[in-house]
Amino acid sequence: MEVKVLKNKEEIGKFVSNIIEEKLKEKNLNNEYFKLGLATGSTPIPIYQELVKRYNENKIDFSKTITFNLDEYVGLEETNDQSYHYFMNDNLFNYINVKKENINIPLANLDNDDEIKKFALEYEEKIKKAGGIDIQILGIGENGHIGFNEPDNMLIINTGKVNLTEDTIKVNSRFFEKIDDVPKSAVTMGMKTILDADKIIIIATGEKKKEVVKFLLEKKGITTSVPASFLFLHKDCILVLDEDVKNACN
Ligand code: PGA
Repeated sequence: MEVKVLKNKEEIGKFVSNIIEEKLKEKNLNNEYFKLGLATGSTPIPIYQELVKRYNENKIDFSKTITFNLDEYVGLEETNDQSYHYFMNDNLFNYINVKKENINIPLANLDNDDEIKKFALEYEEKIKKAGGIDIQILGIGENGHIGFNEPDNMLIINTGKVNLTEDTIKVNSRFFEKIDDVPKSAVTMGMKTILDADKIIIIATGEKKKEVVKFLLEKKGITTSVPASFLFLHKDCILVLDEDVKNACN
């Protein structure tokens, strides 16, 4: 795992956008679609702002890009402003020219677990059919989760439904009116789905992430109690930090 420390979120937005732009252009020049794995949360927002800026400056064209999002809460309508569907439209898709039919976000507002299972299988198939993900963007939970793969004795392999930990519910309640409104479960890409991406960029910013970042920087080992530690198994993964979290680890 390569580690890159940058001054602030804006610098991270530019750094990650450069990698995305370069790969997108390389793929499109070869007449191939670029497949981008996306994350929600506050961490990737500066990247999305930078991508929108470059689109407005005619520097990037997303017409031959397919996107796959990591996760979605169970039970929220796509129009709910706390859903990840809403987040993605509001922070990126409404402002760039990615085609609607090329946007993929786990659908979790389904009636029962069988329907969710069926959807999850189809999601995996879609990723495979597209030829796999070229670059996957990840944030990281304070508890070490990636997507909604929460610390547990066992982690899921492929896309599926998971329960959120109390920690995550508490952390994410900052976006909701009250903690009881936070969904208790989600559909997420599984650990293999994530690790199958050609390149992974995991970003951690701000002092709050210091415990988990310290764990990764110390290369202590791989454990299901820190799902992000499985990224050590990936051959092309960059951990991008801002100075705030890096300095807090010292
Ligand atoms: P954050 O969330 O970007 O809002 O800190 C990251 C995550 O929980 O994966």
